[in-house]
Amino acid sequence: MSVKLTWLGHATWMVESEKHSLIIDPFLTENPVATYPADEVKVDFVLLTHGHFDHIADAASIANRCQATLVASYEVATWFAEKHSVANTLGMNIGGAVSMPFGRLKMTHAIHSSQLPDGSYGGPAAGFVIEIAGKRIYFSGDTALYSDMQLTGRMGIDVAVLPVGDLFTMGPEDSIQATQWLQSKYVLPSHHGTWPPIEQDIAAWAQQVNAHTSTQAIVPVLNKPIEF
Ligand code: NI
Ligand code: MN
Repeated sequence: MSVKLTWLGHATWMVESEKHSLIIDPFLTENPVATYPADEVKVDFVLLTHGHFDHIADAASIANRCQATLVASYEVATWFAEKHSVANTLGMNIGGAVSMPFGRLKMTHAIHSSQLPDGSYGGPAAGFVIEIAGKRIYFSGDTALYSDMQLTGRMGIDVAVLPVGDLFTMGPEDSIQATQWLQSKYVLPSHHGTWPPIEQDIAAWAQQVNAHTSTQAIVPVLNKPIEF
């Protein structure tokens, strides 16, 4: 059993097992670095960490076309059901977990904001721990560094996906501390390079991770699946 993670640019990731496929925070059409066409995405689940445009822009079109289940905070999920007629939604809140067809899914804390594009309140910003194909994958979502990431680390994380872009989220330095606390086997960078203010030297980041943590950094290539 293995799971494939594919970085589609910014904080958009595809997670695929033999039987199930998920997309996290789809932002493709208006994403200046993404090349994967939103209308070619085929998924069963759309997971949203929060309501900001750069995490939800293609969520409704993908969920509706694929008849996928959209999973998000209760507020964000309800907004998609009401404003975009998404038929299948699952609202969660921080700390809650649920058994899904692909495995257990837990919503974790994130320190960030979450307002929807029309000004609606999006509830709390969040992250996810996804259990799929025998692996535990942590998507922190947009967040500052916080020490309770140690508790997530205690779950036994195989792969952590952390923002490193700075300005709106934690930057490279804080992501090293987060990685030390998470003690995952692998860590992947997210939420960088989309626009000049969040450009980072990712090779240097990977070097720092490998020098200062017991975790292996992986630098993803756009649209190229990484198998775990
Ligand atoms: Ni955000
Ligand atoms: Mn963001």
